[in-house]
Amino acid sequence: MQRFALKRQVFVLTKMQTHVMKADGKGVEEAVSLLLAGQVVGIPTETVYGLAANAMREDAVKKIFVAKGRPQDNPLIVHISSLNMLPMVAKDVPEAAYKLAEAFWPGPLTMILPRTDAIAPSVSAGLGTVGVRMPAHKAALAVISAANIPLAAPSANLSGSPSPTTATHVLQDMDGKIPLILDGGTSEVGVESTVLLLAGKPTILRPGGITGHQIEQVLLQTVYVDEAVTQPVAQDAKVKSPGMKYKHYAPKARLVLLEGPTDAFVAYVQAHLEPGVWALCFEEDMHGLTVPAVTYGRLGENASQANALFGALRKLDEEGARIIYAHGPSHTGVGLAVYNRLLRAAAFQVVRL
Ligand code: TXA
Ligand code: MG
Repeated sequence: MQRFALKRQVFVLTKMQTHVMKADGKGVEEAVSLLLAGQVVGIPTETVYGLAANAMREDAVKKIFVAKGRPQDNPLIVHISSLNMLPMVAKDVPEAAYKLAEAFWPGPLTMILPRTDAIAPSVSAGLGTVGVRMPAHKAALAVISAANIPLAAPSANLSGSPSPTTATHVLQDMDGKIPLILDGGTSEVGVESTVLLLAGKPTILRPGGITGHQIEQVLLQTVYVDEAVTQPVAQDAKVKSPGMKYKHYAPKARLVLLEGPTDAFVAYVQAHLEPGVWALCFEEDMHGLTVPAVTYGRLGENASQANALFGALRKLDEEGARIIYAHGPSHTGVGLAVYNRLLRAAAFQVVRL
């Protein structure tokens, strides 16, 4: 009789050290060598920070899902640095996509296109399509072109948390999980890219930095907004963009979205005073509030609101807010993107004043 000695294997779970480097020449070089080795790197973009890996390598892409705790059925956006890279990831690209690329790339527009077989399967999460964009950030473009590979990159937050707009936010969520974060300053736009479906009627699946109106001016046709942008979707619903299913951008506190003029907002908050209540409001709303408040931009200025929103949500968590009354933005222009994020942060709890 043969006897097998069973060797006991001991796995020591060592925490990976996460380095933060300036997004200059040396930082870019280090990021490129890690990406080529199949590692995940936090990179700055003009929208939010991304968690990047080689989009053509399944083993590398899988690490993104692990680091974020992201559901496997939620596909990733692929980032390219020049139109020459597009055929690596997408095929049968319609003329409309080239027109939009000409107008808005590099920039905050992601187009959903038929995918090639070369990209790692997890990137598309079983779909026949891939989301592609060219980011407008010097360091992101430098990394992609030096690595000469398309990079899959979701926002660099833990799944469900507010997206990161600074390297510090990325470190809060990814410390010990990835080897490197490139610090390229605060993201200029502050909310994620517009996700546009081009097959059939052009439809915005997620509003972002490029508005429906801007897209209409290039395509010269009506651009639709998917109903999941402003309506809750059931967990088991078949949605065009899987990301729409999940509660998103949420602080730890319960957030209630209040829609109405400044006077009514202030009056509502003042009528609901209790310990742990905070206001998330515009600078103009501060007068008259006796609860602690964090501002996100100015009334009516959607770009400044987008730029400040995610940082404000993180600050409210740090402050230990338990109930947040948020003053809602307009639903037009970039305001639709801000409104969409707040709706999800509020799990669709809205009070119309
Ligand atoms: O601005 C941005 O887009 C940032 C930066 C890093 O580029 N990235 C980002 O990725 O926001 P992520 O993974 O957090 O959001 C991607 C969204 C998700 O809602 C996902 O469901 C949708 O895009 N998406 C990706 N690929 C898709 C596809 N093939 N079809 C439909 N929706 C897709
Ligand atoms: Mg995200």
